[in-house]
Amino acid sequence: MAGTTYAGAEAPDRNRSPSEREDFTITQDWDAYSREEHETWRLLFHRQEAVLERRACQEFLAGMRDLGVAADGIPDFDRLNDVLRRTTRWSIVAVPGLVPDGIFFDHLAHRRFPSTCFIRRRDQLDYLQEPDVFHDIFGHVPMLMNPVFADYMQAYGQGGLKALNLGALHHLARLYWYTVEFGLIRTAEGLRIYGSGIVSSRGESVYCLEDSRPNRIAFDLMRVMRTRYKIDDFQQTYFVIDSFDQLFEATRPDFTPYYEELAKLWDIGAGDVLPNDRVLHRGMPAA
Ligand SMILES: [Fe+2]
Repeated sequence: MAGTTYAGAEAPDRNRSPSEREDFTITQDWDAYSREEHETWRLLFHRQEAVLERRACQEFLAGMRDLGVAADGIPDFDRLNDVLRRTTRWSIVAVPGLVPDGIFFDHLAHRRFPSTCFIRRRDQLDYLQEPDVFHDIFGHVPMLMNPVFADYMQAYGQGGLKALNLGALHHLARLYWYTVEFGLIRTAEGLRIYGSGIVSSRGESVYCLEDSRPNRIAFDLMRVMRTRYKIDDFQQTYFVIDSFDQLFEATRPDFTPYYEELAKLWDIGAGDVLPNDRVLHRGMPAA
């Protein structure tokens, strides 16, 4: 599994680099990437391009194409931003790694996507827990070209700032996890991937659609916000939306009463199935 920009985790304890600003942004310094780092991008890109052709949703593939993310090397954020700003008024800002929750939500609420700049080492092609530039750019940014998803991400940032004040971040983090990072969508061609944690992982791109072990359950907002997740293994449960409009509409109301209700309910295990779940595929228990 690739990492995630936001998993409700604390920002790592580290020294701020001299170029870091109050909003934690840095300069990408594209000229400083080595030939080997660009080659790592090319390797990852070609592997995923082949895997995703019939597994990623059309919105993701169209975003990738229109954005001009290509195989030839780590993209220059300024170049991508020219297209992204014109299309959905989003932009990419460079950050050194995980940033504090309030900073992260504030960026999203202002249609800025914080992306790491470093790329994983060659011995980490298949697994990296923290987000790198391949996960953040290849995984996240194509969906930001879709107008509905772009609005959903901004609303999520606004909701995050509210949830911080209400002490409900662990519930809201699950929504991000099970949609932005690990979401599936039902299409006329069958289940397809839109979650960035999946599209940036070769193994999970196949596993989430074709393996018999995970559950695939129809999206239900309260169910999602009660469900724990694992950050160090493939998911045991995926939540499936019918459309991005459905996702945006379901998450449009003020969550305050939802959090009050959730405070009275128990958490659900990552691999559990409940009697009321709309189960599209009930997974087999791991051997
Ligand atoms: Fe992520």
